[in-house]
Amino acid sequence: MSAAPRTVTLVPGDGVGPEVTDATVRILDAAAVALRWERVETGREAVARYGTPLPDAAIASIRRHRLALKAHISVPAGGAFENPNVTLRKVLDLYANVRPVRNFPAHPSRYPDLDLVVVRENTEGEYAGLEHQVVPGVVESIKVTTARACTRIARFAFALAAREQRKKVTAVHKANIMKRADGLFLECCRAVAADFPAIEYRELIVDNVCMQLVMNPYQFDVIVTQNFYGDVISDLCAGLVGGRGVVPGANLGDEIAVYEAIDGDPAVRDDPKLASPMPLLVSALFMLRQIGLGADAARITAAAATVLEHKTHVTRDLGGTATTREMADAIIAALH
Ligand code: IPM
Ligand code: MG
Repeated sequence: MSAAPRTVTLVPGDGVGPEVTDATVRILDAAAVALRWERVETGREAVARYGTPLPDAAIASIRRHRLALKAHISVPAGGAFENPNVTLRKVLDLYANVRPVRNFPAHPSRYPDLDLVVVRENTEGEYAGLEHQVVPGVVESIKVTTARACTRIARFAFALAAREQRKKVTAVHKANIMKRADGLFLECCRAVAADFPAIEYRELIVDNVCMQLVMNPYQFDVIVTQNFYGDVISDLCAGLVGGRGVVPGANLGDEIAVYEAIDGDPAVRDDPKLASPMPLLVSALFMLRQIGLGADAARITAAAATVLEHKTHVTRDLGGTATTREMADAIIAALH
């Protein structure tokens, strides 16, 4: 007997979003994954219709179902809006951004058998959105660091390490320069580390971490860091295993989970019809594994791996000429 299917809020966003969302949903539906979708409007269309890229109805749907799959939402022109992708994280208090860095089968990668997780504080720091001009030619951008946010992200990272039987947590910082802000972050991490004596704890400066990641990424296990460093490091880590389309992303709060591609701004780079479905698909697969549908995720992963291996029906960024739709069709065909 199977439980009633869960409902997932679907946020197709804009730009390449609707196309890659459609591809991802078609693949999951073809695999008969037991989920129902509630599609909400955001982005450019929502601005035209409701005057905001993030209408209340979209946020309410995510609160209701506590689970969402989200594509990219572009920043409306005019500078009056905060980046809506960031606003959503703050409004729903999705304080932990989690990006597991592992190889995807048949996806070319510089480093095989990598397995680390980047845990990024997702609500404050440089993303506080507090900037102002002091006088013409002088701008201040305020990085907000609170003990509350630092402690809860540290706790999240150690709990994740314990749950997944991981051995080491590395706190990444720049406390040699941001003595107070990053100093506070480290203080909070150390206090939490003391509660997890079985897990090795170390601290590394962010620039050094970037070099170490390229030279020997295998020395890392769980990385915990503040918002902006986490943004940069997680893209670097995606590059280690083959780029976007390999590393999934989750924005997690205590009760709500929003899975999204790690892509910064795909709309600018891609023709919507030619974008790879992989970045959103791997995030959907991560979601399936987290909600107890790991067997479905494994089947879809195998189908996608077949398509990646044959290389005949992959999108431009993967060395082929297929459209988004054609690549999704090939994955669906490989499922059967
Ligand atoms: C990411 C992206 C976002 C970020 C953008 C789209 C606001 O780069 O999810 O990593 O900077 O966090
Ligand atoms: Mg990013």
